[in-house]
Amino acid sequence: MSGMANGSVTISLDGTNKSLTLPLLNGSLGPPVADIRKLYGNLGIFTYDPGYGETASCESKITYIDGDLGILLYRGYPIEELAEHASFIEVAYLLLNGDLPNPAELAEFDQGVRRHTMLHEQLRRFYEGFRRDAHPMAVICGVVGALSAFYHDSLDITNPGHRRISAFRLIAKMPTIAAWAYKYATGQPFVYPNNELGYAENFLYMMNAVPAEPFKGSPVLARAMDRILTLHADHEQNASTSTVRLAGSTGANPFACIAAGIASLWGPAHGGANEAVLRMLGEIGNVTAIPDFIAKVKDRHSNVRLMGFGHRVYKNYDPRAKIMQRTCHEVLEELGIKDDPLLDLAVELEKIALEDDYFVSRKLYPNVDFYSGIILKAMGFPTSMFTVLFAVARTVGWISQWKEMIEDPSQRIGRPRQLYTGSVERHYLPIEKRG
Ligand code: CMC
Repeated sequence: MSGMANGSVTISLDGTNKSLTLPLLNGSLGPPVADIRKLYGNLGIFTYDPGYGETASCESKITYIDGDLGILLYRGYPIEELAEHASFIEVAYLLLNGDLPNPAELAEFDQGVRRHTMLHEQLRRFYEGFRRDAHPMAVICGVVGALSAFYHDSLDITNPGHRRISAFRLIAKMPTIAAWAYKYATGQPFVYPNNELGYAENFLYMMNAVPAEPFKGSPVLARAMDRILTLHADHEQNASTSTVRLAGSTGANPFACIAAGIASLWGPAHGGANEAVLRMLGEIGNVTAIPDFIAKVKDRHSNVRLMGFGHRVYKNYDPRAKIMQRTCHEVLEELGIKDDPLLDLAVELEKIALEDDYFVSRKLYPNVDFYSGIILKAMGFPTSMFTVLFAVARTVGWISQWKEMIEDPSQRIGRPRQLYTGSVERHYLPIEKRG
């Protein structure tokens, strides 16, 4: 634990003469945290924090978010600078290793990822075990979990070399796994990776190429995809990342841990919101219907929410949303989509919501998902693939957080406590004596 102790907080137990002074640990940014590790031992009490909204579950040096100011930093670098200037592979190196690579380090890392893009041929058969109409998140969760049975050369998680190769394999194979889930659903042949291509380019190639025709990629779309991957690469201790850490705290195989993260990401409250934005825009239909829709959103009894607005942590404009908005315009222009009714609707909706007191007073601003669905739809991704794409990007964050946890000497198995409200001890009654 490297957080500096500076200050303290004292808890006294009402009705007793017991009290305990807890050290306050200060990170490099963010609020101090009370170190409660001695609380139960000294006062015999636990803390209650469903959803862990007030609990720092670990020490981390990877990602920092200031939700009030709308700041997102990867290893200290603002997301805006990374999205503008860095490639996703550079960002992956940064998240995993802590610093930006020099040219030689980047070239070596890039080569390392490219070398591992193919899947074991035996893994192809796993796809055939799924129905063609299976949700691609179910497919990738199964296939990534299955990877844990393929790499017996690197099963020792205490070995840094084994951890490194597992990270390469995961980052490199995710686009192939995701693209093949899509190909399987559409009935098209699997397209093998082409390691001449960059990471995002290769992913778009495996998604869109068919053996019958030459494939012509677009640098603008590849750059947009690369940027989308960067924006989703990590987001500190969210539900799926915490799932990966919790699974990993037992010493489980890293591929199995990432499969657990994929399962957690799948839920609509986490990874599925951009799909919901598109559905909402479709339901509103046109700009003239916006006032009625906004009135419905503001009606407490309607249960209608403005999807793509609001965030558990950001109480300001999500910094990723601004970049997404710009990327959206670039993609539509590249694709020759001059007037996209969904985009027009989104822009107008955003304008109205940002001026409306209901949203302003509740600090509800556009989040990363407000524009990403429009971009992905324009690029030809079916909505069922949106969360899969999120998983491809987040894999680097998950594996970086897993690696940090394994390398943390204060790491213990994750084992939350509970507030038990069930029956007190009672005794078994034979069935004939039960009324
Ligand atoms: N539309 C209308 N009202 C909203 C919305 C919204 N999108 N979000 C929050 N509110 C209202 C809510 O009704 C409440 O009002 P009141 O105080 O009058 O009861 C107030 O704002 C606070 O809401 P909350 O539910 O306590 O806020 P939260 O921080 O728990 O919720 C959220 C965060 C993301 C679940 C929520 O804002 C939401 O449902 N947004 C729409 C779904 C969405 O876009 N999700 C993507 C999140 S970004 C993806 C990611 O990073 O994983």
